[in-house]
Amino acid sequence: MQVVFLGLPGAGKGTQAANITQDFGIPHIATGDMFRSAIAAGTPLGKEVQGYLDAGLLVPDELTIRVVRERLQAPDAQNGFLLDGFPRTQPQAVALDEMLAEISRPLTHVLYLVVSQEELLSRLTGRRVCKKCGASYHVIFNPSRVENVCDRCGGELITRPDDEPKAVAVRLRENMQRTEELAAFYAARGLLAKIDGEQPIGHVYDEIWRTLRGET
Ligand code: AP5
Ligand code: ZN
Repeated sequence: MQVVFLGLPGAGKGTQAANITQDFGIPHIATGDMFRSAIAAGTPLGKEVQGYLDAGLLVPDELTIRVVRERLQAPDAQNGFLLDGFPRTQPQAVALDEMLAEISRPLTHVLYLVVSQEELLSRLTGRRVCKKCGASYHVIFNPSRVENVCDRCGGELITRPDDEPKAVAVRLRENMQRTEELAAFYAARGLLAKIDGEQPIGHVYDEIWRTLRGET
């Protein structure tokens, strides 16, 4: 199963990805998480991308494509994957097709989590993420059991630098039109499943589960 997760910032991709990888046994490959790990580790890649992430801007295609190409060659990606946050541009979508053609593993599903802009804003401003494992929480919609402590690993919960209002506005502007274009691109190929991302977290997952099982 080769799955792409499309959705604007805050749509719930990371939240849902955790259940998908567990139930379907495919790795969660999230370009945003990979960039943040590189920044935290102070690698050359991290230094190169930090300015883009902090400002909410897209990392240049060439660099992003290189990172994904390398990741897809890892042993755990050979039996399927969930790509979260990639592709985000048309050149990235074309590059992904080429990479998958090389390994004869075409995409099987593109899940598009649809959420209104108003809802996205309240989700992003209330989000807290685990410094250690990256798990995503929300102060009202999805709080941790103990304030500022991750349920999964006990790590500290923090606000992502790009969840500050200025960067949020840039991220939405950067991604809105591009996401619609990608949705149209995959719909034309019969791969797109639109999921109502405004339902409670468990209901969104039920819909995703049925789609991936081929029950809708
Ligand atoms: P990335 O990390 O991919 O960020 P994003 O797309 O902005 O997505 P988010 O992580 O903000 O949102 P999400 O959909 O995962 O929502 P979440 O589940 O956390 O990218 C970051 C940056 O990296 C980019 O800005 C760019 O600089 C760079 N980058 C990454 N990929 C790139 C690429 N391909 N090309 C170029 N640059 C790239 O949920 C959000 C909140 O809502 C949480 O608080 C959660 O608890 C809550 N929530 C979730 N679901 C629900 C629900 N159903 N009801 C109520 N609350 C909910
Ligand atoms: Zn954690």
